[in-house]
Amino acid sequence: MKKLLLIVGVSILTLSACSEDSNQNKQELKEKQSSSHETTKQKKQSPQSKQIHEVKKKNGITYIDGHVFVNKKVDLPSDYAPGENRIARNHLNKLIEDARKENLDLVFRSGYRSYSDQEQLYKDYVARDGEAAANQYSAKPGQSEHQTGLTFDVGSDSATDDFRTSFGKTDEGKWIKAHAHEYGFIVRYPEGKEKITGYQYEPWHLRYVGKDLANKIYKENTTLEEYFDYGK
Ligand code: DAL
Ligand code: ZN
Repeated sequence: MKKLLLIVGVSILTLSACSEDSNQNKQELKEKQSSSHETTKQKKQSPQSKQIHEVKKKNGITYIDGHVFVNKKVDLPSDYAPGENRIARNHLNKLIEDARKENLDLVFRSGYRSYSDQEQLYKDYVARDGEAAANQYSAKPGQSEHQTGLTFDVGSDSATDDFRTSFGKTDEGKWIKAHAHEYGFIVRYPEGKEKITGYQYEPWHLRYVGKDLANKIYKENTTLEEYFDYGK
C-alpha cells in the first residue's frame, strides 16, 4: 500500500512538473473553456516586438499571452492569493544552487506575499520614509508582483548590499543580471527603466516568466511594459 501511494505521489509530482509553464498553460486552458462573462479579450500589436499580444482579463486579473501582468497601473484583486508558484521556486532553487557552485553567496531573501502582507509592509514603509519615497521602492497592496507567487528577492550571505541598488555591482548581482534568464527569470525593474516601470532599479527582484519570454526580454534589454506595450 505504501509503495502504491509512493508511485501515485511520484506520478502526480512528475505530471505537474512536466512543463515549466504548465501552471500558466493550465490556467489558460481553464479560461478558454470557461464561458464566464468576466473574461474580456483584446489582441494588440506591440510596436517594439512586432508581435500580436493577447490581453485577457479574468476575475480581475490581467493576463498577457498567458502571463499575469501587474504594475502601478494594473492591479491584482485583493482576494487573489495563489501562494508560492512551485515551478518558479524550483527554478529559483536551481539558479541559487548553480550560483553557489561558482562560489557566489547568493541566497533567497523573500518570495510570496499576500495582499494583506503587502498592505502592512507598505504602511510600515510610508510611516518610516513618507509616501513619495516609499512609492519609489514599494508597491501598494494589489500592485506587487510578490502577490503572484512568481517573484523572488535574492541577496547575499554578507547582506551588506541586500535590497540596495549597489547589489547590482556585487559579483552576485552581476551574475544575476547575466544568467537569470537562463532559469526563466527577468530582472523586473532594470536600471534606466525607472520611468517605465515606476520603480527604482531593483537588481535583486526576479520575476519568473519562463525561459522563452525571459530570453526575449533579456536580449531586447526591455521590460514587460515595453515588450507587451501595456501599462506604461
Ligand atoms: N519592491 C517591489 C516593487 C514590491 O514591493 O513589490
Ligand atoms: Zn521584490
